[in-house]
Amino acid sequence: MVKIIVVGSMNMDIVNHVLKRPLPGETIKSLKTDYNPGGKGANQAVAAAQAGAQVIFIGAVGNDPFASQLLSAISGSGVQSNFIIHKDGNTGVASITVDASGENHIILSEGANGLLTVNDIQDSLDVFDTADIVMLQNEINWDTTRYVMEESYKRGISVYFNPAPALQIPSDVLHFIDVLILNETEAESVTGIPISNDYGAVQASVKLINGGVGNVVLTLGNKGSMFTDSSCNVMYVPSFDVQAVDTTAAGDTFIGALAASTGSKDISEEALRFASAAAAIKITRKGALGGIPNKSEIEAFLTTINSKK
Ligand code: RIB
Repeated sequence: MVKIIVVGSMNMDIVNHVLKRPLPGETIKSLKTDYNPGGKGANQAVAAAQAGAQVIFIGAVGNDPFASQLLSAISGSGVQSNFIIHKDGNTGVASITVDASGENHIILSEGANGLLTVNDIQDSLDVFDTADIVMLQNEINWDTTRYVMEESYKRGISVYFNPAPALQIPSDVLHFIDVLILNETEAESVTGIPISNDYGAVQASVKLINGGVGNVVLTLGNKGSMFTDSSCNVMYVPSFDVQAVDTTAAGDTFIGALAASTGSKDISEEALRFASAAAAIKITRKGALGGIPNKSEIEAFLTTINSKK
């Protein structure tokens, strides 16, 4: 079984469903408010576990009531949670609006996620020795993320990095990253290259590969994904056409399913299709980690699609 360690964030998502987002200075009423367990790290961990991997999560929660709700959600989804640390203060919170088209907008208040330190990771370093993949995002503090990248690289573990929220990635860490997965907005921020067409997408991916990244997966929303390998060979994989209800965590679902199905840094077309199917199912469901499909659901979806061809 593929063994994955996720070092990342856990948030309580406070979600307001609206018909459309308010204009500047406008006040609108929410149609409904939900409290959903989420956070990019937790979502990716759950997506990988439900897609069939053995997953250990390392992260931090506060000492408020959201902490226990998140812990039971993550462990109830099959993720090993005993490395999660309690910090004084608030658990991470994401304030989310989801509009009538299913599109989301997120403001993150990092809380305990920002308190996960290099020392905390050093206490759990032994567990890295048996991992196939380490997955990281950008909702914990950068020093910790960088340390995990470097330690994983030294141990020959495949490093998956999702730079969300977007940041400038220091050039001296690019070679630690085996698989960089990012959307168009993140790719523009990271590379400075506008991704307004295929040419921009290829240029940005090639820039990252030339900088030292092993492989790049650029997610292109309903246009699918573009994979670029270390020799700059490019492959497009289309997305599946579904009715969007809530796009929250679709990218996280894609990443977790991709890692579980690949098990290493060697990405195949089949693994990208599996990840796309997982993301497609997620956007037909409300919530973050609570809406992530399991392996049988993803396989059944792909079987149905193939039988319609
Ligand atoms: O990617 C979706 C996630 O981003 C949400 O669950 C929210 O917590 C934010 O971290």
